[in-house]
Amino acid sequence: MTDCNCENPLVPMTVEVIDIVDETPDVKTFYVRSENGVPFNVMPGQLAMVSHIPVGEGMFSVSWQEEDEHLQFAIKRVGLLTDYLHTIDIGQTLGVRGPYGNGFPVEECKGKDMLFIGGGIGLAPLRSFIKYCFKHREDYGRITIICGSRSYDDLCFKDELFEKWPAMKDTEVYVTIDNEEENWSGHVGFVPSYLQELNPDPQGLVAVTCGPPIMIKFVLEALEKMGFSDEQVITTLEARMKCGIGKCGRCNIGSEYICLDGPVFDLAQLKKLPPEW
Ligand code: FES
Repeated sequence: MTDCNCENPLVPMTVEVIDIVDETPDVKTFYVRSENGVPFNVMPGQLAMVSHIPVGEGMFSVSWQEEDEHLQFAIKRVGLLTDYLHTIDIGQTLGVRGPYGNGFPVEECKGKDMLFIGGGIGLAPLRSFIKYCFKHREDYGRITIICGSRSYDDLCFKDELFEKWPAMKDTEVYVTIDNEEENWSGHVGFVPSYLQELNPDPQGLVAVTCGPPIMIKFVLEALEKMGFSDEQVITTLEARMKCGIGKCGRCNIGSEYICLDGPVFDLAQLKKLPPEW
């Protein structure tokens, strides 16, 4: 590894894990920084490769860049590399390379009301856009966040969902879990049904959704029924990625490379792709 990613885009930079937050039983947020702060600047919705030799390398959404200080990655335990990452401690060094992908259209959304719809770990990429809107609060209108998970324990970023975000100006946060729980007095049901119950008026609104593919499918259907145009709906696609720079051909859908042209697409763009997504 190196401390410079200026020459070979496939060579990771060395970062140190400076904090680890347990979000859920199988999601942790890792705060990483290089010697000089952030290893590179990242826009909301962009991706980066995180690696540890010899365990492996994986592409993750950056869930936040804190000024020039550090990057945050919320990572769910789902396989070899992520199992390993869940065992490490503060002080561990890792490799990161990036940023990759197009990110959310933060400029085009200025002046709009924002509707964020997230499920499970899908809230991680949305969080980068949500926090960006709060950081540039005057540039965006009302912010509505609808988010859900299987259970209360599985909800990520609880302090933000239940305390920080609802306290922000012109912001509403709606949280649901899939099934009844003894100590839960909030909404119960799947995210797409909750969205339909809340029935937001599409006028002046941009909807941004991320979550499990089945949730996205029903959310997109619900938004269409409510009258959202294809251009008003933005989502992110997942794909297995290896190089991150459009060379390995691992992540393409039709002519689009998720690592270059995505992972963020509006519904008008998605409808032009083969139906593999
Ligand atoms: S990850 Fe290699 S082409 Fe996209």
